[in-house]
Amino acid sequence: MTNAREQKTILVLGGTGKTGRRVVPRLRAGGVPVRVGSRSAAQPFDWTDRTTWAPVLRDVGAVYVSFYPDLAVPGAPETVGAFADLAVASGVTRLVLLSGRGEEEAQAAEKLIRSVGVEWTILRSSWFSQNFSEDYLREPVSGGEVVLPVGTVPEPFVDADDIAEVAVAALTGGGHAGQIYELTGPRLLTFADAVDEIARATGRRIDFVPVSVEEYAGALAAEGAPAEVVELLTYLFTTVLDGRNAQVADGVQRALGRPPRDFADYAKDAAATGVWDRA
Ligand SMILES: NC(=O)c1ccc[n+]([C@@H]2O[C@H](COP(=O)([O-])OP(=O)(O)OC[C@H]3O[C@@H](n4cnc5c(N)ncnc54)[C@H](OP(=O)(O)O)[C@@H]3O)[C@@H](O)[C@H]2O)c1
Repeated sequence: MTNAREQKTILVLGGTGKTGRRVVPRLRAGGVPVRVGSRSAAQPFDWTDRTTWAPVLRDVGAVYVSFYPDLAVPGAPETVGAFADLAVASGVTRLVLLSGRGEEEAQAAEKLIRSVGVEWTILRSSWFSQNFSEDYLREPVSGGEVVLPVGTVPEPFVDADDIAEVAVAALTGGGHAGQIYELTGPRLLTFADAVDEIARATGRRIDFVPVSVEEYAGALAAEGAPAEVVELLTYLFTTVLDGRNAQVADGVQRALGRPPRDFADYAKDAAATGVWDRA
């Protein structure tokens, strides 16, 4: 890590989200000036309101780019590309993009980041383990029944702490420019396996119930989920889970010189926080 006094501010977009909120404290612990970029931040940042972009880029040297909701949604690459152009014009010299593994649409955003003429690193990530404890799967797990439109295609779930550590290395260290890191966990698990691991860690019965995509989309819509959310989730559970990502990769090892964290360790630690306790 370079001397903090020489270091310009690092902007962490999605700084309150699953990876960003793990990146921020790690940077601060290293003495790096950090600005959180999100709608609820002191200086609000909103992807959908371009007037909020320039103020958060003031005096910034590097940016962690975590787009919301997903680089696969229509218009996302153009938005990320426009932000990257403004960032470079504002003096940013390093961009670290959180991307999705096996998402062709995300690769359009990667291409734009790689072409703006500054140091870049791409973190192409698998499904986060933390989706089970910090996102839409938390409630079903706590309730004892996880209903999903997925079969037996396995996924190498990756721990958000590993992603954050790689992000910090890429934002502050040397040797990561021009790298595309495929970030996965150390082994493949089906969603049923993952739920089993969580059941073991909590000592509770948690059922995994596979359903068709149509049933799943219908249930989400009936619960009042907006059409674009239904579309994104069904895309993630079908296209991204069609087998294209059913292999582990060595991105964590390459970036950090150590193996990634296992899902069982994640489940044990998350269970100990009480996050899946019944209300
Ligand atoms: N989850 C996964 O398994 C996974 C896997 C691979 C890649 N990814 C990628 O990771 C990225 C983040 O997704 P996530 O699901 O993990 O979300 P997340 O980072 O956990 O949460 C969303 C973050 O974005 C901010 N945010 C929400 N709406 C915003 C807006 N309109 N403008 C600016 N900031 C906004 C939120 O803060 P405020 O509410 O304060 O604005 C929060 O900091 C996505 O690009 C996704 O494709 C996710």
